[in-house]
Amino acid sequence: MLAVSDLRKEFGGLVAVDDVTFEIGDGEIVGLIGPNGAGKTTLFNSITGVLTPEDGSGVEFDGTDIVALETHDIARRGLVRTFQIVRVFDEMTVLENVLTGALFGTEESISREEAEERARDALAFIGLSDKADLSTGNLPIAQKKQLELARALASRPRLLLLDEIASGLTPGEIDDLTDTIRRLRDERDISVFWIEHIMDAVMSVADRVIVLNSGRKLAEGTPEEIRNDESVVEAYLGDEA
Ligand SMILES: Nc1ncnc2c1ncn2[C@@H]1O[C@H](COP(=O)(O)OP(=O)(O)O)[C@@H](O)[C@H]1O
Ligand SMILES: [Mg+2]
Repeated sequence: MLAVSDLRKEFGGLVAVDDVTFEIGDGEIVGLIGPNGAGKTTLFNSITGVLTPEDGSGVEFDGTDIVALETHDIARRGLVRTFQIVRVFDEMTVLENVLTGALFGTEESISREEAEERARDALAFIGLSDKADLSTGNLPIAQKKQLELARALASRPRLLLLDEIASGLTPGEIDDLTDTIRRLRDERDISVFWIEHIMDAVMSVADRVIVLNSGRKLAEGTPEEIRNDESVVEAYLGDEA
C-alpha cells in the first residue's frame, strides 16, 4: 500500500531523515518509535506532502508516486494523518469538525446529506455521538483526540498516520484508544502507521514496529523482536520521554 524508499530530508546541515526505506501492507498496523528528535514527525511530514523530501526519495501510495503531490491531494487518495498537537477547530461543534473531514477528504464530491451521514457514522464508530452538538473548545483532551480520529475516519482513509495520539491520556483512555485503532483495522479495513512515545500502547497493537534513531532506521520487527533488540534498548537509554 505504502512504499517508502531512500527517503531523505535535510534541514540545512541536519539530516533529519536519513535514507529510510520501508513498506506498509494492506490491513497492517505498524508502529514508529524512536527517541525525541529521531525524525519521526519529519518522516510523516515528508510522506504527506507537508515537507518536500530531497531528490531521490521515493514515496508510492497504491503504486502511484505521491512525492510531488500536495497534502490535500494525498489525503483525497486515502492517506490521512492526525497531528502531534491536536488541530481541531475550537469554535465549531464536534459534528462540524467531523463534517470538514467528510466534505474535503474524499475524491468524489458528495452532497451535504451524504457528508453528514459519513460524519455521524464516524462519530458513532469512535463513540462520540452524544457530543455531536457540543462546542469543541470545551472538550477534554482525550475527546479532542477522539474527534481528530473521527474527522480522519469521515474522510474515508485507507491508511491513517497517527502522530503521538496517546500522549497526555490516562492509562484507561489509552486502552480505549488502542481498542479503537484495532477496530479501525478490523472493521473498516484501514491500515495504520502510528508514531508513539508510549511504548506499551503501540506495542500492544502493532503487527510490526519500525525504530528510528538519528534519522536512520535502526530496527524493524515484531513488537517481541523490538523489545529484545539490544541496539533499540541502547538507543533509548537516557531518553526518559
Ligand atoms: N522545520 C524544521 N526546521 C529545522 N529543523 C527541524 C524542523 N523540524 C524538525 N527539525 C529537526 O529535525 C530533527 C527531527 O525532528 P522530528 O522529526 O520532530 O523528531 P521526532 O518527531 O522523532 O521527535 C530534530 O533535530 C529537529 O530539531
Ligand atoms: Mg514528533
